[in-house]
Amino acid sequence: MHLFLLLILQAIAAFGQIDPTHCRYALGMEDGRIKDDDITASSQWYETTAPHYARFNREEGDGAWCPEGQLEPSDSQYLQVDLGRLTFLTVVGTQGRYARNSGKEYARAYRLNYSRDGLLWKSWRNRLGNPVMDANKNAYTSVINDLHPPIITRYIRLIPVTKLSTTVCMRVELYGCPWDDGLISYSAPEGQLMMPPGYPSASLNDSTYDGAHERRRLFGGLGQLTDGVIGLDNFLLTRQYNVWPGYDYLGWRNDSLGTQGYVEMEFVFDRQRNFTSMKVHSNNMFSRGVKIFSSVSCWFKPRLIAGWEVEPVVFKTVLDDRNPSARYVTVPLNRRTAKSLRCRFYFADVWMMFSEISFQSEDTILPTQMTLVVTSPLASEESTVTPIPETAANPSASVPPEGNTAILIGCLVTIILLLVIIIFLILWCQYVCKVLEKAPRRIHDEEMTVRLSSCSDTIILQTPPVPPRSGHGPSGPANTDPHYERVFLLDPQYQNPAMLRNKLPELSQSAEASACGGGYAEPDVTQCTPHQCFHNNAPHYAETDIVRLQGVTGSNMYAVPALTVDSLTRKDISAAEFPRQQLIFREKLGEGQFGEVHLCEAEGLLEFLGEGSPLPDRDGHSVLVAVKQLRADATSQARNDFLKEIKIMSRLNDPNIIRLLCVCVSSDPLCMVTEYMENGDLNMFLSQREIESTLTHANNIPSVSLSNLLHMSVQIASGMKYLASLNFVHRDLATRNCLLDRRLTIKIADFGMSRNLYSSDYYRIQGRAVLPIRWMAWESILLGKFTTASDVWAFGVTLWEIFTLCKEQPYSLLSDEQVIENSGEFFRNQGRQIFLYAPPLCPPSLFELMMRCWSRDIPNRPSFEGLFQALRPHVNQ
Ligand code: ADE
Repeated sequence: MHLFLLLILQAIAAFGQIDPTHCRYALGMEDGRIKDDDITASSQWYETTAPHYARFNREEGDGAWCPEGQLEPSDSQYLQVDLGRLTFLTVVGTQGRYARNSGKEYARAYRLNYSRDGLLWKSWRNRLGNPVMDANKNAYTSVINDLHPPIITRYIRLIPVTKLSTTVCMRVELYGCPWDDGLISYSAPEGQLMMPPGYPSASLNDSTYDGAHERRRLFGGLGQLTDGVIGLDNFLLTRQYNVWPGYDYLGWRNDSLGTQGYVEMEFVFDRQRNFTSMKVHSNNMFSRGVKIFSSVSCWFKPRLIAGWEVEPVVFKTVLDDRNPSARYVTVPLNRRTAKSLRCRFYFADVWMMFSEISFQSEDTILPTQMTLVVTSPLASEESTVTPIPETAANPSASVPPEGNTAILIGCLVTIILLLVIIIFLILWCQYVCKVLEKAPRRIHDEEMTVRLSSCSDTIILQTPPVPPRSGHGPSGPANTDPHYERVFLLDPQYQNPAMLRNKLPELSQSAEASACGGGYAEPDVTQCTPHQCFHNNAPHYAETDIVRLQGVTGSNMYAVPALTVDSLTRKDISAAEFPRQQLIFREKLGEGQFGEVHLCEAEGLLEFLGEGSPLPDRDGHSVLVAVKQLRADATSQARNDFLKEIKIMSRLNDPNIIRLLCVCVSSDPLCMVTEYMENGDLNMFLSQREIESTLTHANNIPSVSLSNLLHMSVQIASGMKYLASLNFVHRDLATRNCLLDRRLTIKIADFGMSRNLYSSDYYRIQGRAVLPIRWMAWESILLGKFTTASDVWAFGVTLWEIFTLCKEQPYSLLSDEQVIENSGEFFRNQGRQIFLYAPPLCPPSLFELMMRCWSRDIPNRPSFEGLFQALRPHVNQ
């Protein structure tokens, strides 16, 4: 039992100095441990509503603190509490003035200011930068607000906020625990941005730091390194919802900003202490170039006005190339005495990232024990501790005072044991349920594995020997995980709808329910609405033809409907034939497997197109155009596809769709002439820009504003609305296929050329189709079903690209195979699917719109008309 207890204590200690989930003790407003003298205010209405009547759940005086007169929106009246010592404040509870049913005043919202020394005051903001917290809705119910981030402070001010002139009164409790670390500030180099190429995008700054930022260093404050939030093993994932990748870590790159192979940090404490150790929570994701530090040297300064002692404590870590877990590294500090410390952490790899630092000093017991060893959280003669109630509905619930440490520890251990047993039972139950649930669904008798060979991106297909068919249960060696059913795109069944339906009834039923017709649009599928489905002569892709499609100038071509004719002739093409000798080559814009795109001057094009035709921009007499040209040695299939693309483009006429101007098809090489878009494709355009700020202005960094991004999104929605109105399915909507002219007008295009430049965006099936799987809806990946609704899915991904400024590939942490497996999870919809994260730049309402585009069930996805209407109001015209 003792050993178990010891283990638990050690495990808890491993969480670091403070565990915010446990540090939720009432600090003494209600029970009087905070004295009347320590509760002050900017003003009071009467003697009977003085600050010391602001005690939670109490009814003395007139029942609350009320500031003088009516509170105006511009007022900064405050109630101030001196906690007597540095405290880790995690929760604030408020009530209004009830006064045995005679009061009705309360604060609907409030802000917090805090000070560690009573001189320098700082304003609290939540992790998304909002300083105002919602509070009470009536005079009696208490509202409990968790502070994210928590505040390390001695003095706290509650400042009621109002939108209208009104009377407010408040009663308050504060919750937290003593800040025994004693650290009052740390300084460090500012955290840095991790960026492609070679690395994913992550912002590794200290976003809650409350000190100053000077010459790229942080001074005089505390922040994420002391907020009790420990980063995950994968630094791109965060504990907080709706924040950016890397949020939990403060990180630096070796070789940057004069880091000289180490990062120097200074730590200042409230008083002189004897330090036993320092714990640094470090990331070790070596596959991304991140490792814990290789060594650290710490110097000590016994008093503020003294020099650094010459002799440092040096500690070398044992580097670990096998286990990528983030971990606490404990650095022994040999009981050295100091008021401040300076430590140099030496890089072991390109990146070093910390999420938490804590200090243990001799005269201080571990605060984690503090939560177990129940003494008063504040210096006080009493020893009552009231943990925070878990719900606002029961604010007065409290644990009875308990003086006996041993009994408490015993209780705690028993509870933990019970919890462990319950968790075990739940896990076991889940396991059994899943096995039962999955059993009838194991469908693959044979499985085709796909793996990328190491030296190239060629796909090697391996078909394990086909075991005898048995109606159920996979028997191939590849399927070893009973929990996981893999749906393989390359499975022969995938190519044969009838077989697939027999094998995967749930898939076809679901597809029938959620889309129109069946999983595959076979020629007999006619019951679809025009919005969702295509039939033979409407622009239409045969749903099973994805392995047959072969690009023209690029590697394949999705936007070209699979017309039933096998070869097109000149008479099918409505665009006019332009004399090719009048196309004067200027430069090459792009190149693909089957052809090239050139920038050309088109002499006399304006006269050629004639009156009434919307004319492209001119450069003097001549007009600049983009000329897409088929290679002379292209196959007849490629030639036919090229002509099909021309035929379709010549029918499209919309301000947000690239316009075909004319063609040269009477002789080889075949050419199509489109308007020239000076700013190239949207992916390239955005990836070379930052979001507009004073910094980008001051340093002349190419930038875009949020309003630009919204305008781009609306234009794409508008172009897609047009295509959808013609029942035209694009199949490859992505930023790489959107072009920008010099006025930032966007036009949707689909040049197979992009497949070369952005080849990693496509999943290649050897000798067959290439698929933009990261933009594809689950039903397109699993069923080969492409509809306007799957274009809507791709639109959601395109929005995501726009609001990440194309700095990252969608699902960049997943391999192609994992993306395909993830689409199986989207289909199963058991909460295991991985969604793209909310880009930090993206307004929450827009992210909700993206999420709706990724709805599993097709009817739940918005239409392009709906998307256009939802986005349009956001654009400042
Ligand atoms: N690249 C491919 N097509 C283009 C166009 N129309 N304008 C500019 N760049 C292009």
